[in-house]
Amino acid sequence: MERADHADQADHADDARTAGIVVAIDGPSGSGKSSAARGTARRLGLRYLDTGAMYRAMTWWMMRAGTPVDDADEVAARSGEPDLQVGTDPDLPTITVDGIDVSGPIRSREVTNAVSAVSAVPAVRHRLVALQRELIGDGGIVVEGRDIGTTVAPDATVKVYLTAHEQERARRRAAEGLGGAKVEVTLTQQELALRDKKDSTRTASPLNQAPDAVVLDTTALNLNQVIERICALADERAGMPGRR
Ligand code: DC
Repeated sequence: MERADHADQADHADDARTAGIVVAIDGPSGSGKSSAARGTARRLGLRYLDTGAMYRAMTWWMMRAGTPVDDADEVAARSGEPDLQVGTDPDLPTITVDGIDVSGPIRSREVTNAVSAVSAVPAVRHRLVALQRELIGDGGIVVEGRDIGTTVAPDATVKVYLTAHEQERARRRAAEGLGGAKVEVTLTQQELALRDKKDSTRTASPLNQAPDAVVLDTTALNLNQVIERICALADERAGMPGRR
């Protein structure tokens, strides 16, 4: 997807109406969530939270600690140990575990292939959802993930569910691996499909579309068009009385 830095100026930054809002962006991998969420946060002058990075950081820590990621009991037993610190500036999102910057290592193939198992463990989700709610605080934030509109922030001002055709999602992931914004090792279309299947069929808080989410198919849209649609929704909803 094309980048739209020139248009990412925070032209709504001083808009009091959007100050306390929560924009929830859910969807499968490769739907364009990260670029869209980050771009929307920059344009609206909001903070940005990548919850997938938190599950990845937890997975990185488990692997480094020698915890077998498929042993749900062991993963659960140790899930309270790592100290996760997350920065929410959309221009420079940061993530550290026990003081170590893990923003690079959490995109490795090893972590990418292990993260579905770790994120399916209820104790992991319980801890990370609590942390995510703390970070959301009084709002003023765009949050991306799989269960934001359904579980983490069911009262979010705006809920968007991004989709894209499977082939296009694999192509985008590959393009990211070749030097996109969030450098991740290229997954094959099969690996991607497998991860989505695991994320969608787990019992604890699966990837799910909130009934009140607006579905946005990004297959034929460029990044700027996606951001514009989300910003328009935020403008519309932020003006609604009775919403956050
Ligand atoms: O968005 P991502 O690919 O970086 O997410 C990594 C994994 O984390 C993904 O396989 C599913 C999981 N995840 C989750 O279970 N819940 C979230 N809110 C975000 C991500």
